[in-house]
Amino acid sequence: MKQELRKTPRQKLPEWKALAKHQKALKNVQIKDLFTHNPKRFDEFHLNHESIMFDYSKQSITLETIEKLTQLAKACDLEGWRSKMFGGEAINMTEDRAVLHCALRTKDTRPIMVDGQDIMPQIHNAMDKVKSFSEKIRSEKKYTHIVNIGVGGSDLASSMVYEALKYYSDREINIHFVSNIDGTDLMETLRLVDPEKTLFIVTSKTFTTQETITNAHSAKAWLQGELKRTDVSNHFVAVSQNIELAKEFGINDEHIFPIWDWVGGRFSLWSSVGLPFCIAIGFDNFQKLLDGACSMDEHFKNAPLERNMPVLLAMIGIWHRNFVKLPAISITSYDQYLWRFPAYIQQLDMESNGKTIDRNNARISYETGPMVLSDTGTNAQHAYFQTIHQGSSVIPCDFIIVAKTHNPIEGHHNKLLANAIAQTKALMDGRDNENPHKSFAGNRPSNTIILDELSPYNLGMLLALYEHKIFVQGIIWNINSFDQCGVELGKMLANQIIDEFDKDIDDIKSDQSTLGILNYINNK
Ligand code: F6P
Repeated sequence: MKQELRKTPRQKLPEWKALAKHQKALKNVQIKDLFTHNPKRFDEFHLNHESIMFDYSKQSITLETIEKLTQLAKACDLEGWRSKMFGGEAINMTEDRAVLHCALRTKDTRPIMVDGQDIMPQIHNAMDKVKSFSEKIRSEKKYTHIVNIGVGGSDLASSMVYEALKYYSDREINIHFVSNIDGTDLMETLRLVDPEKTLFIVTSKTFTTQETITNAHSAKAWLQGELKRTDVSNHFVAVSQNIELAKEFGINDEHIFPIWDWVGGRFSLWSSVGLPFCIAIGFDNFQKLLDGACSMDEHFKNAPLERNMPVLLAMIGIWHRNFVKLPAISITSYDQYLWRFPAYIQQLDMESNGKTIDRNNARISYETGPMVLSDTGTNAQHAYFQTIHQGSSVIPCDFIIVAKTHNPIEGHHNKLLANAIAQTKALMDGRDNENPHKSFAGNRPSNTIILDELSPYNLGMLLALYEHKIFVQGIIWNINSFDQCGVELGKMLANQIIDEFDKDIDDIKSDQSTLGILNYINNK
């Protein structure tokens, strides 16, 4: 029998109950009718911050919904938690850590204290080191192949930013990313590089991650073989908090770039973890990326909640997840340079908010982080958009559009933009047809986010927008968005299972299915 969970405090809030009631009242509302009844709807339901525009008019919400969502955010003390985060309190309570990725991009010169120490001088020193090292690599051209070895937060954001800002990159330096423990990832990369001119960046906060350390050792062995010498230390640098293990691996002290436990892996691109893309695009562009993020941080800190872009983006997500009860979201970016954004955003959102235990250690009885579908437009349209248009679940969409392209080949960009806009319209309007297979119910919600162009500054704003969206949702759900306990069990079991290969089947103690799989593989 399915056990009913006790209602957790969030659901007992009058503001939560008011939203549940409000949703019932809006159940039959058609988005397109909201436009018919209000000629100023677009004006009222869009927001600009510098060169980013957020249109949330194609949502089945009213101004009353926004007011009620804002009241819920206030009741959950969003403003208090926001101050705690920016102030350096240990809001990642399961790991007893502060959450200070915003400190990496602040222009505020005031000290930020962690464990009685001002962290700002450490940040500035690290950035100076990244600046001088990247400038040296860019000017000398001694290394023309940079291979970042890292996984998860030590790979995804860095590779995404590199691809997103490739237009600004030095094409004489090739940046590669190796993340998978599958030897194919490393081998196919090594086939592309010249050993003499290759620099490996081992990015691992802990320097214990199995994938990264295995790849790093194999890369080192390969290089030793290719260069026919054992000391290859001048081909390796590390980004890590674990200086001892990085040194033990053979990396010189001065080539270890710091990272701190108050920066979560998936929020770390603003630190030395950004070294690979900094080498590609140069430090000035890295600084612009930081400045863009800082601008969004300031907006997030200071704008009233009902005119606050990350808060609105987050709260509309809360509306869908907890009141309309929708299981997934889709985020499509209509710019090819953002082709790695899907993998990045999946980790950012799903590793942060895929939780079911609240901050009081109680199991929660409402929905939290949604499944995130993501791809670039128009590719997504030819892949999963059938479900978006006619599937049995409504999947709210974010359309990220870039108004000006870096590559204005005649006849392309307008078609790309037209496709994006057409999707939002098709989802809202639907279409009646006498053939039921060809009819579209419509009334499917979407947000449109428009960047003037994909510059480092604008990308910084966009990424900070989504970081803060995820933070806000974590606060409403009363979960810790900054740990990732859920990935640990699989890692531990993988280490145990390694020992079972080549054992006699009678000596392995496991469940039937696992035994069957091991037996099958061992006989191959
Ligand atoms: O996926 C789990 C995780 O712990 C991520 O949070 C982290 O970004 C990644 O592994 C890599 O960790 P590290 O930088 O310590 O190698």
